[in-house]
Amino acid sequence: MSSVRRILVTSALPYANAALHLGHILEYTQTDIWVRFQKMRGHECYYVCADDAHGTAIMLKADEQGISPEEHIAKMRIIHEADFADFSIGVDHYHSTHSEENRIFSELIYERLTANNHIAQRNVVQSYDPQKNIFLADRYVRGACPKCQAPDQYGDNCEACGATYQANELIDAISTLTGVKPVEKESLHYFFKLPEFTEFLRNWTREGHLQDEVANKLAEWLDDGLKEWDISRDAPYFGFEIPNAPGKYFYVWLDAPIGYMASFKYLCERENINFDDFWGAQSRAELHHFIGKDIINFHALFWPAMLKSAGFRTPTQVAVHGFVTVNGKKMSKSRGTFINARCYLNHLNPEYLRYYYASKLSRSVDDIDLNLEDFLTKVNSDLVGKVVNIASRCANFVAQGNAGVLAATLPNQALWDRLSGASEGIAAHYEQRNFSRAIREVMGLADAANEYIAVSEPWKLNKDPSRQQDVVDICSLGINLFRLLMIYLKPILPVMAAASETFLNDRFDWASAQNPLLNHRIEPFQPLLKRVEQSSIDAMLTASAHEIPDKVAAIASEAGKVLPFEPPITFNDFTKIDLRVAKIIQAEAVQGADKLLRLTLDLGCDERTVFSGIKSSYDPESLKGRLTLMVANLEPRKMRFGLSEGMVLAASSEDGIYLLEPDTGAKAGLRVT
Ligand code: MSP
Ligand code: ZN
Repeated sequence: MSSVRRILVTSALPYANAALHLGHILEYTQTDIWVRFQKMRGHECYYVCADDAHGTAIMLKADEQGISPEEHIAKMRIIHEADFADFSIGVDHYHSTHSEENRIFSELIYERLTANNHIAQRNVVQSYDPQKNIFLADRYVRGACPKCQAPDQYGDNCEACGATYQANELIDAISTLTGVKPVEKESLHYFFKLPEFTEFLRNWTREGHLQDEVANKLAEWLDDGLKEWDISRDAPYFGFEIPNAPGKYFYVWLDAPIGYMASFKYLCERENINFDDFWGAQSRAELHHFIGKDIINFHALFWPAMLKSAGFRTPTQVAVHGFVTVNGKKMSKSRGTFINARCYLNHLNPEYLRYYYASKLSRSVDDIDLNLEDFLTKVNSDLVGKVVNIASRCANFVAQGNAGVLAATLPNQALWDRLSGASEGIAAHYEQRNFSRAIREVMGLADAANEYIAVSEPWKLNKDPSRQQDVVDICSLGINLFRLLMIYLKPILPVMAAASETFLNDRFDWASAQNPLLNHRIEPFQPLLKRVEQSSIDAMLTASAHEIPDKVAAIASEAGKVLPFEPPITFNDFTKIDLRVAKIIQAEAVQGADKLLRLTLDLGCDERTVFSGIKSSYDPESLKGRLTLMVANLEPRKMRFGLSEGMVLAASSEDGIYLLEPDTGAKAGLRVT
């Protein structure tokens, strides 16, 4: 094998204003598969990502929740990292662009751009919300189209007639933040002089760093002429203040890609890696960015130009993918096909989706359709029907016939050679990000293995005592062929591969495909993957249709734990809960229990004693006479201090406990319906 490569890989940094959805997961899966493949090949490969934490949207989202941007991004980071982990996205480090490392690199790069005279300053007139005292990006201004009068259009272009215009040309424009009429206001902005890099970029975009489709698109933009890029925003803004420019902040897209460096820098400190080996202008390491097609200009124009001016290396490759559609259409909240990563995880095994996405991924930037029928069929017929099937058919014969030890010889060397010999071809497909080709080849090999078992009919031979050795030999080869398939699929299916490694008492790297396991003890076979059930897909779509995506983010983290939505229940399930208005007539601390209060509740027709863990937030005296809500038909529970006959309702977070209370006028005993 060729010498060890040093490779740094990134995925685009998700915005810290929303939960991840299955579109994001496509990108992170694509990147992760490529990284796992490189690591299996023995290369020194690092994968970093981070939350993209700056910008107006994030500031407003925090405002909405009445928390600071710092608190908001801390919460989102926990949620995003949990999604990464649960989809087996094996980042070596996950950072934040709101970090000291990123501030240092952003300032450094900006200072170098300034020193090289690549920064310009000039006044810009922009829409301004006089009530909220904030400049308005185009998406925060709406009004009627100046061309066709279509109502309620965004500040940059009309969805009805396609016209493009300035926000101040809109008729009867309003600020979407407050509803007031925006005013025009001038302020000083900083620009990156991108046009000076036109020649550099003409060359760079044709040097093999990009797919041809992407390079062609960029050539069009280059021919149209590049414009200077506005890299500053005025306060209030959540981001880094520009050095020597009070009240001016770096635009989120300036420091976002620098976040790749910041995240890697953190990893370097932790793992003792030399940062300059990877980012220095003379670096011989590789740098690969995986991104979606919507952010090509940032990664293939602005970013290489910035790196060039600031004296850093430029990317080896910018790998672009298309967008996920679901059942042939753009993901849509109303159809329930805007599926959050967490919603998927609540219903389906992440390896199914990793496999399905891989089976669709190539070097193309075409959109990728998640067709849920095809998803079910493909996963079940390929993984369960073809791959797992080989192991499940063969394992018992080896367990019974040879005490769980694989045979010492191969009964069909040619077949082994064929599957083992496919290794480099499959590797080439992975290297080229042609995962769909890799899967087609592997499934072709799986067909050959299944055919071999089918024609060898070990279950028939097994009835003949004189053919016992043949049975063990055939099934040992079967297991070895299964092992090859799992070696080849390991970048895509890390969890199933790990289970297979346990089953086989082995550890797979790419070179493992060169040698069979002979005379080798294996473990009893355990089911490796369950079939996809249509009912799980249906449940996911139903849950997704009822989910309010923005709110998912707000589902608070309780001491660092993410609380996902519970699976849906039917209306019937809900009506089983007998909720009543209850009056607290007595409240007292419980001897020997520091969290509990003993409450005596009046239910109109009945009196109940309930122990409730609300002492940390409520003084018992203050509760007397108050109304609350209780579950009146909860099975009584015997506690150390007595019988608890129901439960009062309260919401809780790290900040405190909040007892629920009915509106004024309610009476004890009323039923909640
Ligand atoms: N924060 C920026 C990226 C900064 S990188 C220095 C951003 N964030 S994002 O959350 O909107 O998107 C993150 C990545 O997910 C992008 O590469 C984007 O193309 C990708 N996708 C977002 N929606 C997608 C689909 N529906 N389908 C496939 N990829 C999608 O952009
Ligand atoms: Zn119009």
